[in-house]
Amino acid sequence: MDTRKTTILFRLALTSILCTSLFVSCQQDKELDDKTRTALIEKGKQISASLSGALLTKLSSEIQANGTVEAIKYCSVNALPLTDSIAKLEKVKISRVSHKNRNPANAANEEEMALIKNYIAQIEKGAATAPVITTGKGKYTYYAPVVIAMPTCLKCHGKPDTDIDAEVLNALKTLYPEDQATGFAMGELRGLFKIEFDDKR
Ligand code: HEC
Repeated sequence: MDTRKTTILFRLALTSILCTSLFVSCQQDKELDDKTRTALIEKGKQISASLSGALLTKLSSEIQANGTVEAIKYCSVNALPLTDSIAKLEKVKISRVSHKNRNPANAANEEEMALIKNYIAQIEKGAATAPVITTGKGKYTYYAPVVIAMPTCLKCHGKPDTDIDAEVLNALKTLYPEDQATGFAMGELRGLFKIEFDDKR
């Protein structure tokens, strides 16, 4: 190969490296300033409070009216029409994730596992827990701890031998053959509430 060709090739290689690094740096997230963080935390708290309230009301009234087996489908944020309307209005994606998930779609990823471990450690120490905002993949994500805070939760997430009725256990096994979400006790971390904000605000 003559020197001219080598020089052109070298320049091409250099240009493509430069372009790639420029592209990569543009993809990285800008720093999250305090004002934006506070606003996102507030919005996240608002959304999760209204959804948790609606979920609890639905779950409790269904257990009372038709029994725990019938209520099984109501412990899903996706079962709430409110979830869709909030998601559309606020341009967010709402879900829950867990280290011991019931629905396979709710398994925590590696980053979420780290958050969960941290929350568990805080709870064990008796320290207060607070929501966090993470950045990455061009979006902001709100996470808040979900704790087993009332005995009702144990009807479906407690100890299989003592807390969960046999017929409920059977129904859960049929619907969720890979269920890991039993054996919880009061005060334990059940998972994370997750809100993905799809626009940079
Ligand atoms: C009537 C049974 C029942 C009760 C009571 C119940 N859950 Fe659930 N829970 C379920 C089912 C079923 C799922 C899976 C929902 C789905 O498919 O998305 C679930 C899923 C969850 C998840 C999502 C993560 C995962 O494992 O899939 C969280 C978090 C959760 N429950 C917390 C609670 C809390 C907190 C309470 C008490 C306020 C509670 N649940 C009460 C049946 C119940």
